[in-house]
Amino acid sequence: AKTVHEKWDISYHFKSPDCVRKLAVTVNGGTPGPTIRAAQGDTVVVTVKNSLMTENVAIHWHGIRQIGTPWADGTEGVTQCPILPGETFEYRFVVDRPGTYMYHAHYGMQRSAGLNGMIIVSPAEPEPFSYDGEHDVFLNDWWHKSTYEQAAGLASVPIEWVGEPKSLLINGRGRFNCSALAASGGAAAACNATSPDCAVQVFAVVPGRTYRFRIGSVTSLSALNFEIEGHPMTVVEADGHYVKPFVVKNLNIYSGETYSVLIKADQDPNRNYWLASNVVSRKPSTPTGTAVLSYYGGRSSPRALPPTAAPTGPAWNDTAYRIAQSQATVSHPAHVHPPPPPRADRTILLLNSQNKIDGRIKWALNNVSFVLPHVPYLVSLKHGLRGTFDERPPPETYDNSTGYDVYGVQPNPNATTSDGLYRLAFGSVVDVVLQNANMLAPNNSETHPWHLHGHDFWVLGYGVGRYDPVAHPAAYNLKDPIMKNTVAVHPYGWTALRFRADNPGVWAFHCHIEAHFFMGMGVAFEEGIDRVGQLPEEVMRCVSKKGGRH
Ligand code: C2O
Ligand code: CU
Repeated sequence: AKTVHEKWDISYHFKSPDCVRKLAVTVNGGTPGPTIRAAQGDTVVVTVKNSLMTENVAIHWHGIRQIGTPWADGTEGVTQCPILPGETFEYRFVVDRPGTYMYHAHYGMQRSAGLNGMIIVSPAEPEPFSYDGEHDVFLNDWWHKSTYEQAAGLASVPIEWVGEPKSLLINGRGRFNCSALAASGGAAAACNATSPDCAVQVFAVVPGRTYRFRIGSVTSLSALNFEIEGHPMTVVEADGHYVKPFVVKNLNIYSGETYSVLIKADQDPNRNYWLASNVVSRKPSTPTGTAVLSYYGGRSSPRALPPTAAPTGPAWNDTAYRIAQSQATVSHPAHVHPPPPPRADRTILLLNSQNKIDGRIKWALNNVSFVLPHVPYLVSLKHGLRGTFDERPPPETYDNSTGYDVYGVQPNPNATTSDGLYRLAFGSVVDVVLQNANMLAPNNSETHPWHLHGHDFWVLGYGVGRYDPVAHPAAYNLKDPIMKNTVAVHPYGWTALRFRADNPGVWAFHCHIEAHFFMGMGVAFEEGIDRVGQLPEEVMRCVSKKGGRH
C-alpha cells in the first residue's frame, strides 16, 4: 500500500458554476475540489490550509470509516475543533475498502458553499463486473444566496426557508437562464452565459464499449433522478458495496449516496445524448441539470446539444417508484460480506418530526432537536471532561409510538434541544428504525437521506406508514441486505437499519439535507471510547486544558 499526499488550500474565489457569479469556498481554487484517487489499503494524507480569513473549516471523508482514526472524520463538534483561519490541519486515514466516496465541508452549512469532491478507491481484488472505460458524475444543487444568508434565514422568526435550488450542477457545471435573471430585476452583469465555469460538460464514449459511471450526490436539499438519455443503466455498486445488478431507465439518488452503473455505448453515434438530473420528492421549480454524452467518431460535434428535449424524469411525487428502486438495491450474491447478525442487542426508534422551539421551526428526533457541543464529543469523552454536553441520554423511542398517527399533524409540536448522545456498548448490534411523519403543515412528508459516519449498516427494510415493532422485524431482509452509509426514509414511511458498534470513536448520524441537519436533524453515537488511541493535539485546539472551550 502506498501513501497518497494531497496539499489543499481552502479559499474563497468568485466562481460562476451556473453562469451566475458567486463567492464559493474552493479547494486549490476549484469547486468541486480535486478527485482523490487511491487504491484499497492506501493511506491518504490531506494537508489542509485554511485560507478563508474569517471562516472556520472542517472536512469530512464521507463513506470512509476511519477505523483507528476517529479524529480524522472531520466533523466539527463531534470529532474535532474547527480549523481556524490561517491554521493547517493534517487528515491522515486509510481507505480500507474499494468504491465510490465523497468529501465535503462539515462546518455549519459550508458544504453548500462548494467545498466538496469525490474519492475513488480502486479494488485490490477483481470486481463482479467489467467495463472498458470510466466516467465520474458528481451531482449538486446550487443557490445564489450565500450560506450565511441561508443559515440566518433558517434561524429567523418567521423562518426564511432556503427555497428550491436555482440550478442543478453536474461536475460543478449548470446553466442558469441569464435573461430570466435580468427580467426578474437581477443584476444581469453577474450572469455570464459564456463563462468557462458553466461550459457544458461532455462525456465521450467509444461506440460498442461498456462504461462505468460513478455517480455521487452531494446536494444540499434535493433528491435527484439521474438519466442518460437512451442508455439504460445497470446498477452495480451502492456506497462502496456491490449490488445484485438491476437495470433502470433512470436512477433516484439521494444526498450522500453514491452509485456505479454500467452503460453500453450502443446507440446511433452520429448524435449526442443528454445526461439529465431532475428534482424528485419535492415539487420541482428548478430546471433540469444537463450534460452531454457524445460518441467518438460520430458525425456530431462533441459539444453540440442533442436534438431532443432533455429527459424530465419520473413524476416528482411518485413515491412508490422510488421505494421500488430502494427495495431493488440488495447485495450481490457473491459479496454478502459480512452477513448481518440475526438479531439486535438494542433498537433505537427515531421519530423524524418538524417541531417548534421558541417560535423557530426545528427538526427533531423523538422531539429532541440536536445541537452540536462546543467541545467536540471525542475530546470530552476521551479526556473525561465533564459538563461540556448534556449527559442525559436522548430517548430510545417516542411517546405513543404504537398509537401515533404518522399521517396527521403532530398534536404537540413542542421540542427541546439537546447535545446529548447515545452511548453504545462496544461490539453490540444496534438497530435504528427511522420513522417518518407529517410535517407541521398538513399533507406533507419529505424524504430524508440519513447518513451514518464511521460505519456501513445493513438496510433491513422499508415500509409505509407506522412501524410495528412486532410484525415488521419478522419481514426484515437478513438474506442479502445491501450495506450502505446513507439511506432514504421515504415520505410517511420507515426504514430499518442495523450496524455493529465496533468502531471506537464518536460518530454523527444525521439527515444529509444541509438545512435539516442545521435545524437539528441528527444524533451522535459513542462506542469504545476507551479503545481510542491518543488524540492528535490539533483536533483539540479549541479546548483549554481545564476542559472549557477557549
Ligand atoms: Cu456527508 Cu455528516 O456527512
Ligand atoms: Cu431531512
